[in-house]
Amino acid sequence: MNTLSGIKNEFPIFSRLINGKPLTYLDSASTTQKPRCVLDALMSYYSTSNANIHRGIHALSEESTEQYEATRRRVAQFIRANSEREIVFTKNCTESINLVARTWGEENIKKGDDIIVSAYEHHANLVPWQELARRKHARLLIIPLLPNLAIDLGVYERLLTEKTRLVAITAQSNVLGIIPPLTQIIDAAHKVSARVLVDGAQSVGHSQTNVTTLDCDFFAFSAHKMAGPTGVGVLYTKQAILDGMPPFLYGGDMVTTVEEHTAQFREAPWRFEAGTPNIADVIAFHAAMDFLDKIGLETIEKNDQYLLKEVKKRFLSYPEVTLFSPDRVNSNSCLSFTVTDVHPHDIATIFNSEGVAIRSGLHCAEPLVKSLGVPATARMSFYAYNDLADVDRAEAALVKVFRVFQKKSRKVTV
Ligand code: ALA
Repeated sequence: MNTLSGIKNEFPIFSRLINGKPLTYLDSASTTQKPRCVLDALMSYYSTSNANIHRGIHALSEESTEQYEATRRRVAQFIRANSEREIVFTKNCTESINLVARTWGEENIKKGDDIIVSAYEHHANLVPWQELARRKHARLLIIPLLPNLAIDLGVYERLLTEKTRLVAITAQSNVLGIIPPLTQIIDAAHKVSARVLVDGAQSVGHSQTNVTTLDCDFFAFSAHKMAGPTGVGVLYTKQAILDGMPPFLYGGDMVTTVEEHTAQFREAPWRFEAGTPNIADVIAFHAAMDFLDKIGLETIEKNDQYLLKEVKKRFLSYPEVTLFSPDRVNSNSCLSFTVTDVHPHDIATIFNSEGVAIRSGLHCAEPLVKSLGVPATARMSFYAYNDLADVDRAEAALVKVFRVFQKKSRKVTV
């Protein structure tokens, strides 16, 4: 059953051919394609309202400011934050996490403190904490994975002590698609009074997010992985924490008054948005959230799950394929695989020759991929516009890999 037929038509990019074949886009974990309504919103903004925000009393500036701030309200509603004052716009998820490390982290992490991350983390949620730990002479502890690639909660609970200041954890692995039990992880961290940052880059836009019931302290994500434009990141922070954080970048628009040697800063969240922000892309992001809500996040999640299950079933029937996404571990929208004695870059090249876009390599998660005992993986990731025809083309591309590398492509029943 295909839950989302027709959605593909909303994405102009799918009218093009790649190597003479219809585009089969299975790289949405890198960035998603953009629906026409988002492209129209960009064009409309630049054609009718373009002006700088928070700075002018002329009509265009007021319109731009209103649209920009309306997106902040829309984001708060989309992720169920208590207030738009908890929403800071950045340029991407990576910058959102760095903002926390450079502001809250600088003030709250001290010598001898512990920062805990998981073995799943993308470099964006690992390297900023490595650097903060180095600067502060703190310890960076890593929650290992079990043999089935689920997070080892037993070890996690033993790592948590009164020295733990921060737990930084992904909501969904960008390599394996695995979803860690966030509520359990957050509750355990709060019992030792640690703060929790969630990297939601892969989960927002694929399933409903509720930062309030989740009770995380920070939640970071990017618009471009949820049908929105590139260049827009979001950082949600609980109001009481955000109000106490020092600015990140300094300059225009984040100040109330400036004298020759001193300055006063605006209240949060505007204190964290120095300089002219990415106005047009923030405004077009509003259209992306409307688009996703119109389809329904539950429907999107069902489609992702259905395609993931189907692709796993088909790929597992070829003995040469190893899948890094176990069935009994909660996962969504993406999976990694290898083919015996074929480098993942060769797999991706052959897939591309069939018009199938997948990612290969380390996926900005080098420690995780190396821990799988492989030099790299090939990764397929799904989104609302994918359908069963895409799974058929991925399977046909896989069979071509076998052919090129003179492997038997026999299917076995599993
Ligand atoms: N984080 C993106 C990915 O996983 C770039 O591909």
